[in-house]
Amino acid sequence: MSSDDAQTKALRTEPLRTDPYGTDVDPVIELVDVEDVTLANEVGRFQPVGVLGRGGMGEVRLMRDLRIRRPVAFKVLRSKLATDRAYRTRFLTEARIQGQLEHPSIVPVHDLGETSDGELYIAMKCVRGATLRRALKDPKFTRRRLLTAFSSVCLAVEFAHRRGVVHRDLKPENVMLGDFGEVYVLDWGIAKVLHAPPKRRSPTRSSCPARRRPRAPASCSAHPITWRPSAAMAPPTSAATCSRSA
Ligand SMILES: Nc1ncnc2c1ncn2[C@@H]1O[C@H](COP(=O)(O)OP(=O)(O)O)[C@@H](O)[C@H]1O
Ligand SMILES: [Mg+2]
Repeated sequence: MSSDDAQTKALRTEPLRTDPYGTDVDPVIELVDVEDVTLANEVGRFQPVGVLGRGGMGEVRLMRDLRIRRPVAFKVLRSKLATDRAYRTRFLTEARIQGQLEHPSIVPVHDLGETSDGELYIAMKCVRGATLRRALKDPKFTRRRLLTAFSSVCLAVEFAHRRGVVHRDLKPENVMLGDFGEVYVLDWGIAKVLHAPPKRRSPTRSSCPARRRPRAPASCSAHPITWRPSAAMAPPTSAATCSRSA
């Protein structure tokens, strides 16, 4: 039997020892070389429909993805700011943090790119519903429904904390309640990664999930939720000049 045949046979018969997604620890947020991306201009794929909301750095537009044939929310960094290195880095960081935090209550990122006008954009799932700010004034949102939403927000935030990410801008405008019970934490624009990603280990016997005891990433506390507020509120080093309005 050739070594190729032996390898193929082993692949078929050997159970996977490590996480098939290639990580043997909790996935960590990767921000290294945040500016290394070539942002192909694919904006022709998206057709403008309207505006969903505006904030300090740009606006969130409703676009139609002509390829998949669905609406998408298109968060755009204003072109004036797109040439500012700190804002640009902050926006790319937002896309990566939000995109890597895959959780049912964190809006999935579909794409990150740049328009021909030099506007950076994040294409993401378009949430149909209301911000928590609006829901709090709408009697259709019962106390029970709001409490359920609150618990979903807590779970999303705990998920982020487990990956060393603090949101730092949790407020009713940054939470959306979907028409079918969905709850989403939005706007990871000033989120901060509080620990460097641990080095990826090569797979060993001890990294087999069945043998591994759960453990916190090397440089973060076992209870990230108890991190000192002063640490969480420290301004982001890469975008100290970014200011935000609600
Ligand atoms: N994925 C989305 N789907 C629908 N509306 C959204 C979405 N993301 C943001 N919005 C709307 O746009 C507003 C501003 O978005 P946000 O990400 O908070 O921008 P900023 O960083 O400028 O505050 C939100 O309050 C919400 O009303
Ligand atoms: Mg916001």
